[in-house]
Amino acid sequence: MDLMEYQAKELFAKHGVATTLGVVVETAEEARAAAEQIGGVTVVKAQVKAGGRGKAGGVKLAKTPDEAFQHATDILALTIKDLPVNRVLVTPATPPVEEYYFSFLLDRSNRSYLCIASVEGGVEIEEVAKTNPDAVKQIPVSPATGVDVAKAEAIVDEAGFPAELRDQAIEMVQRLWAVFVEEDATLVEVNPLARLEGDKLEALDGKVSLDENAEFRHEDHAAFEIREEADPLESKAKDKGLNYVKLDGQVGIIGNGAGLVMSTLDVVAYAGERHGGVTPANFLDIGGGANAQVMADGLDVILGDEQVKSVFVNVFGGITSCDEVASGIKGALEILGDAATKPLVVRLDGNNVDRGRAILDELDHPLVTQVDTMDGAADKAAELANG
Ligand SMILES: Nc1ncnc2c1ncn2[C@@H]1O[C@H](COP(=O)(O)OP(=O)(O)OP(=O)(O)O)[C@@H](O)[C@H]1O
Ligand SMILES: [Mg+2]
Repeated sequence: MDLMEYQAKELFAKHGVATTLGVVVETAEEARAAAEQIGGVTVVKAQVKAGGRGKAGGVKLAKTPDEAFQHATDILALTIKDLPVNRVLVTPATPPVEEYYFSFLLDRSNRSYLCIASVEGGVEIEEVAKTNPDAVKQIPVSPATGVDVAKAEAIVDEAGFPAELRDQAIEMVQRLWAVFVEEDATLVEVNPLARLEGDKLEALDGKVSLDENAEFRHEDHAAFEIREEADPLESKAKDKGLNYVKLDGQVGIIGNGAGLVMSTLDVVAYAGERHGGVTPANFLDIGGGANAQVMADGLDVILGDEQVKSVFVNVFGGITSCDEVASGIKGALEILGDAATKPLVVRLDGNNVDRGRAILDELDHPLVTQVDTMDGAADKAAELANG
C-alpha cells in the first residue's frame, strides 16, 4: 500500500524523524483556517499518490490565509496523473537552503535492501541519475545486519552530507531505517530531505510503501487506507478475499496459481500484438479453491470492469481437478445469469481434464469457447477482445 505524503510524515514522526506534520484538509475554507492557525507563510500541497506534484502545480506557497484559500481552490480542482486531488496538506513554509535525496528500498533483483542517497536532491532524482550518475550513491544494505550506527555513518559519508549536518544525518538515517524495518515498508523515500535555515535537517516530503503481506502485524496500518480513493474493483475483490490487481487492458484473466497467472499475462500480451494491441485487464489468481462461488466472484469482479471485452480462464488442474473447475464455471454462469455478458475462453489441462472439458461441452453455453492450448486460448481471447 502506497501512502500519501501526510501519512508518510505521520510514520516519520512516530519514529522520531524530524518533520512537520501540518494540517490535512478537504476544502479551501478549511485550508484558510489551517493557514490562519499555523500563521505566517504556508505551503499548500496536493495529496495524491503520484510523483511530480510540484511540476503539476500541486505545491504552492501562500503568504496569507486568503492566498492559501485561493491555492487550495486551484489545487483541489487539479487532476495529477489521472488522480483527482481530494485533499491538501497545509504546512508551514520552511524554505530549504539545500535539498537532498534519501531512500531505503527493497532491491528485489539482488535479494537485498538498497539505500539511495544524493546531496543533489530536489525535484527529480531520475534526472540527476541520468545527467550526473556519480552524484547518486547506491549503497547496499544487508538484510542480515541492517543499519547500525557504523552503517549509518558509512552511508552519510559516502553520500557526502556537509560536515555540519553529519551528526543529524546519521541520526536521521537510523530513524528512517527504523521506519523501513519496523513498519514493514518496501520503500521509504525523502525528497527533499532539506537543510533548513540554522542547519536543521528535516524531511519536507515523504513517500512510503507498506508491504501488504505484513498487514497482519500492523493493525494500525488499516487506518491509512482511504476507501473512496481505492479502485472500486480492487476493493470489491478484497472484500471477497480474491487476489486481484487491476491492469489497463481488455482481456480479463483468471487462473489458478500466481505463476500460471503471470505467464498468462505474458502470453496474452504477446498474442495481443497480433490483435490490435489488446493487453491483459487484470491479474486474478483464484488459487486452489476454484469452486463455483470463487469462480462467480472472480468473474463478477472482472465483468464489472468496463474495459474488459473477453475473459480468459486458464486452469491447470492439480489438487483442484478440471472437472471441479468446469463445474465451478458452470455454477458461476448460473449465479451470474444475465450479468455474464462477455465471451469466456476456457483452457483446461491437467488432472481430470477429459471430464472437465466434457462438462463444458455438455453445457454448450453461447459465451464459452474451449481451446486446448494456452497459446491458442490466449490468441482466441485476444481476437475476441479486439473484435
Ligand atoms: N514546507 C515547505 N516549505 C518550503 N518549501 C517547500 C516545502 N515543502 C516543499 N517545498 C518545496 O517544494 C518542492 C516540491 O515539494 P515536494 O517534494 O513535497 O513535492 P514534489 O517533489 O513536487 O512532489 P512529488 O514528491 O510528488 O514528486 C520541494 O523540493 C521544496 O523546494
Ligand atoms: Mg518530493
